[in-house]
Amino acid sequence: PVQPVVLSGGAGTRLWPFSREAYPKQFLSLTGDKSLFQQTVDRVLSTDPEDGHLEFLSPLIVCNEIHRFIVAEQLRLLGVEGSGILLEPVGKNTAPAVTLAALHAQESGRDPVLAVLPSDHHVEDVAEFQARMSKAVEMAAKGDIVTFGIVAESPETGFGYIRRGPEIEDGVYVLDGFTEKPDAKTAAEYLASERYYWNSGIFVMRVGTWLEQIARHQPAIFDACKAALAASKRDGDFIRIDKEAFAKCPSDSIDYAVMEKLTSGSQEGPRGAVLPLDVGWSDLGSWPALSKVRPRDGDGNVTIGDVFLKDTQNSLLYSQSRFVAAVGLADVVVIETTDAVLVAHKDRAQDVKTITEHLKKAN
Ligand code: GDD
Ligand code: MG
Repeated sequence: PVQPVVLSGGAGTRLWPFSREAYPKQFLSLTGDKSLFQQTVDRVLSTDPEDGHLEFLSPLIVCNEIHRFIVAEQLRLLGVEGSGILLEPVGKNTAPAVTLAALHAQESGRDPVLAVLPSDHHVEDVAEFQARMSKAVEMAAKGDIVTFGIVAESPETGFGYIRRGPEIEDGVYVLDGFTEKPDAKTAAEYLASERYYWNSGIFVMRVGTWLEQIARHQPAIFDACKAALAASKRDGDFIRIDKEAFAKCPSDSIDYAVMEKLTSGSQEGPRGAVLPLDVGWSDLGSWPALSKVRPRDGDGNVTIGDVFLKDTQNSLLYSQSRFVAAVGLADVVVIETTDAVLVAHKDRAQDVKTITEHLKKAN
């Protein structure tokens, strides 16, 4: 069996004012009835072992303690039971989150394969996703760290880029370069090359493989997570990570802490593998990303709610509680909610996060 690990501790600040500190985007229903978090859980649990797929254990969730009731309720609505919910007193980014999950999974005395799943993705073709996941688990069981490559569409600087090396076997390649969030010039070079993909953010590897790597490259994270988990308190399905011990943990992402080092070429260690993934994947990180998975009108606009447009193109307009009208605009994002309104240029969508930084300071 495979142990899914769902990472749900992000703040989702680029989707303000929809995504709020108390209720971040992964728990919102942005693309259907179910929240992104619920869709992530469903995507692996709906895998049918009879179809030659693998069996997935109840997922381990890693989230901030302030979201524990949202997580518990959303799992209950899915009918998912017996998941461990690891509660972080503070977010330390994804490397510590995975390390806590790996150490917890190891307590079972086994060395399961972890499927690390971010909870802010949209996937169109779930059956194909499950088929690729089965392949990834097969590779990971043999010791590889498996990544999924998405054919890049634009020179995004908010993603990691992975370089494909020689083919290992049918449709699986050696991972021979990993660059997290390159600058715009580098991203444009990568886009022009057929050998680069976007990193999907999904990782598959054995517990032991991950722990060895984090202990080697970021021993301070390994030590702090070990201490924080050892001092944690069980509270039903919740596992409360010790605050004092976890406060000492450095903050870092999987990508910088391990993946970039894995492929720097100077060391022996596990092999990185790339599985190209063609499933209609998107990271719903920003407003333009969200508008890509929504139907558009003939002028390229996406409107949600009570909206009127005149001579307006390539814009996203959302009304939650009041009538919204736009005249003679292009490339704008307008998001109206009961207590806040966002008006931004589409090209500046990444900077929406500065608003929450401002609000934090002001409060
Ligand atoms: N538990 C926990 N704790 N989860 C976290 C934390 C944390 O401190 N920080 C982030 N997460 C969760 C987020 O909720 C999200 O589901 C996932 O981890 C990934 O974090 P992001 O912050 O969204 O990462 P990113 O999008 O900037 O970059 C990653 O994903 C890209 C693709 O979407 C990287 O892996 C990139 O290389 C990749 O291209
Ligand atoms: Mg993301």
